[in-house]
Order: sequence, then structure tokens, then C-alpha cells
Amino acid sequence: MVKKLKTGVLISGGGSNLQALIDAATDDSFPAQISCVISNKAGVYGLSRAEQAGIPSFVVPHKGIERDVFEKSIDDLLQQNGIDIICLAGFMRILSADFITKWQGRILNIHPALLPKFGGKGMYGHHVHEAVIESGEQESGASVHVVTAGCDEGPVILQKAVPVLDGDTPETLAARVLEVEHDIYPHALSQYAALMSRKTS
Ligand code: GRF
Repeated sequence: MVKKLKTGVLISGGGSNLQALIDAATDDSFPAQISCVISNKAGVYGLSRAEQAGIPSFVVPHKGIERDVFEKSIDDLLQQNGIDIICLAGFMRILSADFITKWQGRILNIHPALLPKFGGKGMYGHHVHEAVIESGEQESGASVHVVTAGCDEGPVILQKAVPVLDGDTPETLAARVLEVEHDIYPHALSQYAALMSRKTS
């Protein structure tokens, strides 16, 4: 049997994408396992999801902490847990080029739009959906991409579109996009982990 890649999931909130990954990884044939969860915010529901699944979870606060110290704490936890690959799942901090270089090709992110449209600095959460609606685009969607130093610019692994409907609000569009996020993130991690395992074995 192929060794499952150890995945660390970084979150800042509710963790519905984390849940989708946890659920998918319960399948014996899934090529990755969720080995630890790190949140920069205490008390978020994503941490309860980790606990319910019996996955070690950690809080690394960022407020008032130098970025290099914050990232060193995260890196130490990832190393201690033997992590091979990182999934950002609603993680609301931008990682430094140094951190990304260290984990080059081993960080995935989910973005709630069809990249390269509606990505980059300031394009997160409701800002994305507001911009999509204002632009008059007829479709939006979700993208899983490899994280590189340019914000939201790394190669896309998987995308899925949803329609933008008349009368959509940022909230209704966000809910429709979130559904496809839960669909594509596990598939993207599965594909990418299988590829990484083949490269390293
Ligand atoms: C998702 O919309 C994701 O695309 C974005 O942040 C949101 C996280 O939601 N990066 P959840 O915490 O996974 O429920």
C-alpha cells in the first residue's frame, strides 16, 4: 500500500473545508491523512472539528507577534508532526516568501473564485463575491491551487464553476461556491498527494 501523505491543515475559522478533507481522508484508498490542524485563532469551530475527529490541533496566535516568530511556531509544529503537505483552508494570514520557499510545492490553498480572476491581495471572503457580482460575471466558482510567493498566483490544480444568479447577494453566492469547495478540495488533495507520493517513492 502507498504511504499516506501526512497533511497539516491551517485554518482561521469554521473549518467546513477542513471537515470535507477529514471526511474524505477516512476512506482507506485516500492517499493523504489529516495529521494536524493549526489555527491562528482560539475557539474557532474548526478546532472542535479536529477534536471530534481525534486529530491533534494547535493554536498559534498571530496578534502582536512578529511574522517570522509566528511562522517559526507553525513550522516547528508541522515538523514535529512529520507533515509532508500543507492545506490552507480558510487560513486568513498571508505566508511569507521564506515560508513558502521552504515548503515549495507542498502548500495547497482553496480560493472561492475562478482564478486567475478575482484573486490577489484583498480578494478574500465576502470581498471576492462582492467583486464577482459587481463585475456582472455570469459564473464564479472555486479553485484549488499550489501556493507560490505571488498571492493566489500558483498553478491551479482543480476548478469548478457555479452560475451567478439574478438577485444573488455575496452571501447566497458564497454558499453556492462553498458547496463546490467541499467537492473539489478533497479531489485536488487526493490527486496532488498521489502525484507527490509517486515522485518521492
Ligand atoms: C472558504 O470560502 C475558502 O475558500 C476561503 O475561506 C473560506 C473558509 O471556509 N479561503 P471554511 O472555514 O472552510 O468553512
